[in-house]
Amino acid sequence: MADVPRLRRDVLLEVKAKIQQGVLPQWVFADPDVYRAEVHQIFAKTWNFLGHESEIPRPGDYVTRWIVHDPVLLLRDEQGEIQAYLNSCTHRGTKLCTADFGQRKTFTCPYHGWTFNLNGDLVGVIAGNKVYGQEMDRSQWSLRKLPRVASYQGMIFGSLNPDAPSLMSFLGDLKWYLDIMLGRSDGGMEVRGVPQRWIIHTNWKVSSDNFGGDPYHTAMTHRSTVELGISPKDPMYASYGHQVVLNHGHGINLITAKAGLNVPPYQGLPREMWPMFERNLTPAQRQVFEKTMIMVGTCFPNLSFVSPMHGTGGPDEPLTSFVNFRVWRPIGPAKIEITSWFMVDKQAPEAFKEASYLSYIGSFGPAGTLEQDDAEIWTRVVEASQGTMAQDKDVHYNNVLNYLMGLGRVEPDPTWPGPGIAYPTCYLDAISRAFYEHWIDALLAEQDTDVLVPNR
Ligand code: FES
Ligand SMILES: [Fe+2]
Repeated sequence: MADVPRLRRDVLLEVKAKIQQGVLPQWVFADPDVYRAEVHQIFAKTWNFLGHESEIPRPGDYVTRWIVHDPVLLLRDEQGEIQAYLNSCTHRGTKLCTADFGQRKTFTCPYHGWTFNLNGDLVGVIAGNKVYGQEMDRSQWSLRKLPRVASYQGMIFGSLNPDAPSLMSFLGDLKWYLDIMLGRSDGGMEVRGVPQRWIIHTNWKVSSDNFGGDPYHTAMTHRSTVELGISPKDPMYASYGHQVVLNHGHGINLITAKAGLNVPPYQGLPREMWPMFERNLTPAQRQVFEKTMIMVGTCFPNLSFVSPMHGTGGPDEPLTSFVNFRVWRPIGPAKIEITSWFMVDKQAPEAFKEASYLSYIGSFGPAGTLEQDDAEIWTRVVEASQGTMAQDKDVHYNNVLNYLMGLGRVEPDPTWPGPGIAYPTCYLDAISRAFYEHWIDALLAEQDTDVLVPNR
């Protein structure tokens, strides 16, 4: 039997060279060593989205989340500050809080009953003085805080890396586009309902890359929406607009209607909201937002967003926009848990909020039409990537997938008013190429040994 291939630096350098040529070795979608390296080299070092400030508005409000395999207890303390702890008891390590969300002043561990307050202090030990005596210093046994927590436009991120660059510098030029989605209205956005969670059998890169850089799939994968008359019959319909490559592996597509078609400005948002856009957005941001129908992209590595216009169910209903953020949490090389947040402008009229929610549920909710289409296809990508042929790492064998669209053929648009490198089409693999180049650079970073992961 042949040796199990090792994830060596020279192999990774070869992957990088391939990406720069516009192709990607298929084995990276299902390789356990790649997965282990990603957990340590990417997810343990970057900023990870945890939740929105509107989910925990009052002291004592909490939600439980994950950063890959680290359980997180995210809450608002008595001082109104946001805190994030490892959701693991400091006594024997069991998960402290098992609810998805709630409101409380203290958390009592279900194993031996140690109790912690909102500051993470150990404030209750069953039979404490009898079994530990006075000498045990309880202040040594507080909940463990995440090394870093920070927010932008109400979006709370955490990092396991004390030396991570600031959240602002991590988001970089993506902030300009997040402002359009999240900062356009007075008071920002609110999460409506609780985020939905579900599991699908794919690799996190497949979904991140799809949302980040793949408007090309819409005409085929989502063909049912064309047949139902929800999407235009034009096979180029998701190509119009701009694909913008941003720093740090992020990317966004700002999809417009075909030239000459009459679509409502600002994604059909109610006219009474427009003065807020004047107050909160710059003229350049408004210029982009006014003619955009769909915003879809990825904040590297695994936070994606989509803000399309979609029907709410009734045949005569106008298309209604929504804002949806989702985390593709890796839980193995071939498994992700999706957490999906529906967000809407706090100051939007109630009727719009409800229509927007229905629009989301019908399209990108767990049972939504478009969501179902994508999940099925992404599952098949990984199914087809696990076999002997797809996993062959022989660099001389042309075992690669095609990311060539637009390479050397499409030039950036110098008139684009926003930051980033903007190309005048969304049928393009520029964001995907940048995404994978950033990914491979992260795997290659700070490696001073020849072998990244020891032989299995
Ligand atoms: S593990 Fe929490 S009290 Fe023992
Ligand atoms: Fe899709």
